[in-house]
Amino acid sequence: MTESAKAAQPVSGQRILVTGGAGTIGSTLVDQLVDAGAAEVVVLDNLVRGRRENIAAAAEKAGDRLTLVEGDINDLGVVRELTAGKDLVFHLAALRITQCAEQPRTALESLVDGTFTVIEQAVEAGVKKVVASSSASVYGLAEQFPTTERHHPYNNDTFYGAAKAFNEGMLRSFHAMKSLDYVALRYFNVYGPRMDAYGVYTEVLIRWMERIARGERPLIFGDGLQTMDFVHVHDIARANVLAAQAPVTDEVYNIATAQEISLAGLAEALLAAMDSDLTPEFGPARQVNGVTRRLADISAAARDLGWKPTIGMDEGLRGLVAWWQAETQGISA
Ligand SMILES: NC(=O)c1ccc[n+]([C@@H]2O[C@H](COP(=O)([O-])OP(=O)(O)OC[C@H]3O[C@@H](n4cnc5c(N)ncnc54)[C@H](O)[C@@H]3O)[C@@H](O)[C@H]2O)c1
Repeated sequence: MTESAKAAQPVSGQRILVTGGAGTIGSTLVDQLVDAGAAEVVVLDNLVRGRRENIAAAAEKAGDRLTLVEGDINDLGVVRELTAGKDLVFHLAALRITQCAEQPRTALESLVDGTFTVIEQAVEAGVKKVVASSSASVYGLAEQFPTTERHHPYNNDTFYGAAKAFNEGMLRSFHAMKSLDYVALRYFNVYGPRMDAYGVYTEVLIRWMERIARGERPLIFGDGLQTMDFVHVHDIARANVLAAQAPVTDEVYNIATAQEISLAGLAEALLAAMDSDLTPEFGPARQVNGVTRRLADISAAARDLGWKPTIGMDEGLRGLVAWWQAETQGISA
């Protein structure tokens, strides 16, 4: 059997560890793994951002097939215990880019040391494949659009992006040293249900929904011309499942929609999704991050993983609004 064919791993009937599985993307992946018939799903999450409620529905469905272990990816003993006997590891635990900038040492311990522990123990345990979450942040402000996976990482100047690039490097080195099969997925701009509506690092969409619900105009700092490439959390979770199943190893893939939307366009789309006739308000520019454009080339994921995004922005934003209203205002979705 070729190296690539050996890397095709089913999800059904498998014993699986999901780090960060109580978070936005991880919990959505847990739903899909349970639905796909995984034999056992263990979530390792220290709940710094994740929430038990995120996996409550999956837990009800899965019964004793799903376990939440409240613990840290830096805890070697716990990671050793939880990787033992697993077929697959989905590694999603990480801190947000903003927190990494404010607390680089904490970020180093979590994103770098923690990821090392997960990879090292996955190898020790003889796990068949690791699917890891990377980020478009590895590109910084790209020089070529649409941006392919071959684009260099030297324009990134964030600690978060640096850690994600090093994570990819670690995976590659463990593939070379220890024949670890892995796929890393570079998500672009993520949105969807279970986005953090409570924490300090809430996304712009959450802040805007709060304002619009109060009858206030969504506030854009600067001209709103910077663009993003949004991809729905359900599509991202599906990319993880396909990355496990596809006969590929030692590869990274962009996960995005290949659709560019400006910040101002996003505000307009959100207003439409909330049936509001308000218009965006523009405030003084704030230098939050230097990435003014994102647009991915996603042909590699289509070719090798059979993955394509299925949820468009209008549908996705309406679903996000319905979830957020149910979550925060007790209005049923
Ligand atoms: N959301 C985005 O825009 C985005 C974009 C690109 C990549 N990613 C990556 O996708 C992955 C999932 O992101 P998300 O949006 O679901 O974020 P999230 O914050 O909702 O989920 C991350 C989870 O990891 C947990 N966690 C953090 N540090 C931990 C540690 N040391 N030990 C155990 N658990 C820990 C958190 O409690 C949380 O539940 C992350 O690796 C992230 O870097 C996210």
